[in-house]
Amino acid sequence: MPDGGGIEAAPAVLVLRRGGEAWAYRNVCPHFSIRLNYEPDAFWTYDSGLLICAHHSATFRFEDGVCVDGPCMGASLVRVPIRIEAGRVLIDEVNPG
Ligand code: FES
Repeated sequence: MPDGGGIEAAPAVLVLRRGGEAWAYRNVCPHFSIRLNYEPDAFWTYDSGLLICAHHSATFRFEDGVCVDGPCMGASLVRVPIRIEAGRVLIDEVNPG
């Protein structure tokens, strides 16, 4: 997983990493309820701390998934619980929907 970037993990889940920290969210943009990426595993990020939706450039903080710029400012991605064990990211639970 790229440092400062993201990958697709479980179905419709994306994982973001910066150094030893990681966060997971459902891969659904709150603007139009579609995936945040155009291509598999290709997430746009900025400065190792912001995730940018590939469709209309809504910009979300890695840490809390809050949209800080773009068409859905103030909305949030839906967090998916994870654990980090021995440097591996484990997804605790993925609920459909
Ligand atoms: S669908 Fe993500 S910003 Fe519009």
